[in-house]
Amino acid sequence: MTRPESASPERSAAEVVASLTVEQKAALTSGATFWTTKAIEDAGIPQILLTDGPHGVRKQRAGADNLGLTESIPATCFPPAVALGSSFDPALLERVGAALGEEAAALGVAVLLGPGINIKRSPLCGRNFEYLSEDPVVSGVLGAALVRGVQSQGVGASLKHFAANNQEADRMRVSADIDPRPLREIYLRGFQRVVTEAAPWTVMCSYNRLNGVFTSEHPWLLTDVLRGEWGFDGLVMSDWGAVNDRVEGLAAGLDLEMPSSEGRTDAQIVAAVRDGDLDERVLDQAAERVVVLVQRAERRSTPDGFDEQAHHDLAREAAGRSIVLLQNDGDLLPLSPGSSVAVIGAFADTPRYQGAGSSLINPTRLDRAVDAIVGYAGQDRTFFAAGFALTAVEPSEAARLRDEAAQLAGSTEVAVVFLGLPAELESEGFDRNDIELPPQQVELLRAVVAANPRTVVVLSNGGVVRLGDVVDLAPAVLEGWLLGQAGGTAVADVLYGEVNPSGRLAETIPLRLQDTPAHLDFPGEHGHVRYGEGLFVGYRWYDARDLPVQFPFGHGLSYTTFDYGNLTLAAEPDGIRVGLTVANTGGRAGREVVQVYTGRAHSSVARPPRELKGFALVDLAAGESREVEIQVRRDDLAHWDLRVDRWVLEGGDVAVEVGASSRDVRLAGSVTVVGDDVRMPLTLDSSIGEVLADPAAAALVTGALAQADGDRPEGRRAASEGAGAMFSDPALLKMMASAPIGRMVSFPGTGVTKEQVQGLLDQANAEYEATSADDRPAS
Ligand code: BGC
Repeated sequence: MTRPESASPERSAAEVVASLTVEQKAALTSGATFWTTKAIEDAGIPQILLTDGPHGVRKQRAGADNLGLTESIPATCFPPAVALGSSFDPALLERVGAALGEEAAALGVAVLLGPGINIKRSPLCGRNFEYLSEDPVVSGVLGAALVRGVQSQGVGASLKHFAANNQEADRMRVSADIDPRPLREIYLRGFQRVVTEAAPWTVMCSYNRLNGVFTSEHPWLLTDVLRGEWGFDGLVMSDWGAVNDRVEGLAAGLDLEMPSSEGRTDAQIVAAVRDGDLDERVLDQAAERVVVLVQRAERRSTPDGFDEQAHHDLAREAAGRSIVLLQNDGDLLPLSPGSSVAVIGAFADTPRYQGAGSSLINPTRLDRAVDAIVGYAGQDRTFFAAGFALTAVEPSEAARLRDEAAQLAGSTEVAVVFLGLPAELESEGFDRNDIELPPQQVELLRAVVAANPRTVVVLSNGGVVRLGDVVDLAPAVLEGWLLGQAGGTAVADVLYGEVNPSGRLAETIPLRLQDTPAHLDFPGEHGHVRYGEGLFVGYRWYDARDLPVQFPFGHGLSYTTFDYGNLTLAAEPDGIRVGLTVANTGGRAGREVVQVYTGRAHSSVARPPRELKGFALVDLAAGESREVEIQVRRDDLAHWDLRVDRWVLEGGDVAVEVGASSRDVRLAGSVTVVGDDVRMPLTLDSSIGEVLADPAAAALVTGALAQADGDRPEGRRAASEGAGAMFSDPALLKMMASAPIGRMVSFPGTGVTKEQVQGLLDQANAEYEATSADDRPAS
């Protein structure tokens, strides 16, 4: 960072901005280059450097191309979000964040462009490797931890991509068309949590439109919700090239356009202010936010470097904690170092450890699994065969590689086969067409297993793959995702039991692509993608449809076993306190990820059968047991109420399930919560059911109708004619309950007028308002 002499002593951002011309202010709100903001030397404002992110620092050398096609300066490549999400470990992510922040600071980076916390709506999204989960609580808790870590080093985070960037197809134009409840409860919930809990210095808007409007110029999103409702006080920047109309964007709450527009859009801002189309105070505010960001960054000290070994070790620890043991039939794992081992698969010596695109890190070093296995089993017991080629080869060559590997497997005590997605199949910028592993890899596995049934599969993939064949063939399967630069060693740590696996799936592994929630609505057409599955994203969908899955959300095995007991539930003003005892009933130390799900048997709104509302990690020695407490936040229990356009906690019984996955529920109970008081004023459009549900209105209206019935001349007293009689006939009432009361009273023969009913409803509304809040019935 360049620091002009005049930068100190620090003046308030408002004072600095007050000293600038309109041109200077406009200049300040867009980039100078691909990665820097503009310096305004006269005003003592230095430029600052922003770089990707999210799982390492991608600082390019001076003069390098901007798209990252050439190498950036070496930095630790930590496991990408797809892996970190499976750790379910906020403390670990905070440490990873702090290490990222430290490296960024050492490289003079003011803002690290991450984390990305978009929801994994479809397994096809090409960028799922950069996101944490299909669940908003996991995304929010872990995203907040990363932000806290990065910012603990005086470096800003940039929470991205805000919002609803859930596919790469047509990402710069497509409109994500989402109903209010899924938007709030699924797609914005994680962002809300990170903003309110961790206060990121910056938020990066996404490329796409949201319900028709580009997020880069969406006043509701960038200002009403982000700042107004959530209290965000940082800076909003554009994704690189996401600005559609700079003036609209600025007015909507977009403070900084990135990268540079070489002054073209700055001139549009100046003209808009001069022409009176843009209030200068809006520009002042954006410029002020840039100055605040620069000042924040300037307060940071720049360390001389960072401890590469320590960060590599942390990358190894994080990778080990992120690996998910999907299957372990016959306890094939952990392996014994004394057994001879055939290490098979190109990924064992050419690791697939991160995804392609803007997040590509140039690692400080790169561990190969085959070397790490040699470290455990010894050179003389470890044998390697590539098994398949990473580039296209003739069928005869593919067969040769396969047969050679199978022969090797037949000669050793155990085989470990590294399968996965080749790099070119998944990347930022495009989505996948299917969730299949390359067929030659499955053929290889078939041949290896035929030669040696004691076969373990290790997977390297950024997006979920279909695993039917793999789990049928191999007794043991490790989901390694993309594990960063130390992943090779971390895999060996897990294979040999140095690390007891504790990763849990942060996304469901389906049986087939056709079963996935967004299957019929992905990636949309003619510029629109309709989120037709609504709230039913990920496990919420499979559970609601009662569909079998390959491995459920939250699943992950250990080399030990855990028992759950003594569930206690207590409703408290700020949520539900869940208590239980977890015991390690196996023979080695291990970590359990206890998950708390809630559901509602009775609700006035649609709800998934169960939703994750809390989780906790428990480290237990063999034979140890411990009491665990998990707090479910009241905010997380609330749903978005369309009638009042706000979060509402529905009162009543909450079903609480505690388990080791969304489909491995070990304890269940119920607790009654006091809900929020939501009462819509009754009107002639209220249904008969709604009117009768209100005690005061029910008494008034039924009384008036009964009286009208009684007042009729004798000859017209047939029960079928009197509305009062209808109100006391359960069968008729059931049929009429959804009819607006105003329509019903217009029928002939009711004996009351609309005006009379309106008067009674007004009276009931007034009675309700006069009741003190404490005496009101809870919703
Ligand atoms: C990506 C962002 C990234 C930016 C800068 C964009 O294409 O969507 O995630 O931070 O480029 O590289």
